[in-house]
Amino acid sequence: MKKIVLLGAPASGKGTQAAVLCGRLGIPKISTGDMLRAALSAGTALGKEAERYMSQGKLVPDEVVIGLVGERTAQPDAAAGFILDGFPRTVPQAEALAGLLRDRKTALDAVIQIDLPRELLFERAVLRRTDKRTGHIYHLKYNPPPPDAELEHRADDRDETVKKRLDEYDALTAALLPHYEKLGLLRRVDGVGAPTEVTTRILNALGTE
Ligand code: AP5
Repeated sequence: MKKIVLLGAPASGKGTQAAVLCGRLGIPKISTGDMLRAALSAGTALGKEAERYMSQGKLVPDEVVIGLVGERTAQPDAAAGFILDGFPRTVPQAEALAGLLRDRKTALDAVIQIDLPRELLFERAVLRRTDKRTGHIYHLKYNPPPPDAELEHRADDRDETVKKRLDEYDALTAALLPHYEKLGLLRRVDGVGAPTEVTTRILNALGTE
């Protein structure tokens, strides 16, 4: 199981789990959110375009993220597999991903959906903090940062924008669940509990533990 998609609402724990799984499975984590934020910090044209959508809690246009993922998955370190975190998020993105893997004579192995009730999603997002230097993800209540961390509060983790991101997930991304279910790829994992418990559930769902 090496070509894996992590699917789930904003703040469901995709980034936290992807960081652990890439070490356990020896494959890179590919996060479209991280790539877009890096472009934004670098002040590139792509970053500036993406910010218009991200700051409003909206999805960046499909063609932008499809291009990013096409390039990133073609890098040598992704030849043996990858964990996609936050991509695809729409049915056209899923179809584009299937097409690009087909062209490379391969296919997805599994899609893991991390399932969490909306009230927990909201709390996880607004209290998230990231260490600017290491990219490590913390939570003020569940996973407090060490005193020397250089903390960043993501601009899209403010109350109103989180609500919009959750609505955007329900409107556009939730449609991927029946899409992948029909393809026999979907495995649902309960996202409630300690991060280590969720990791074990994911590894069990992948048949690797
Ligand atoms: P992106 O960065 O992908 O954000 P997201 O999907 O909203 O996911 P998050 O990063 O918010 O959360 P997560 O599920 O990774 O949770 P985390 O592990 O951090 O995208 C941002 C924006 O970019 C989008 O809104 C869109 O504009 C654009 N974009 C990105 N990809 C796109 C695409 N494909 N198409 C179009 N636009 C795209 O955990 C959250 C918090 O909970 C943390 O504080 C963590 O410490 C804590 N936590 C995690 N697990 C647990 C646990 N088990 N128990 C307690 N706390 C936990």
